[in-house]
Amino acid sequence: MNYKKFLYVKIINQKTIYYKYSNKSLLLILESNNLFVENNCRSGYCGLCKATLLSGRIKYLKKKIIGYTSKNEILLCSCKATSNLVIKI
Ligand code: FES
Repeated sequence: MNYKKFLYVKIINQKTIYYKYSNKSLLLILESNNLFVENNCRSGYCGLCKATLLSGRIKYLKKKIIGYTSKNEILLCSCKATSNLVIKI
């Protein structure tokens, strides 16, 4: 088994999700693991899917994200993990 192809997302005070590296958004990854996050537009506009990134790296799937985020906040619907993550929802 090649462990480099697997990532985890640790959600503070909830659970840790292990999954195969994917281009899916973090929101889809969480939902496919029965963890539901408030959301609406699913395209980076409304800001409802905001989470705090405590460690790790992400990459936004689109270049233009409209939803407001402050430092260390990410929009789960519009980014993917590029490393193991620790987040707070
Ligand atoms: S669901 Fe609207 S910004 Fe993510």
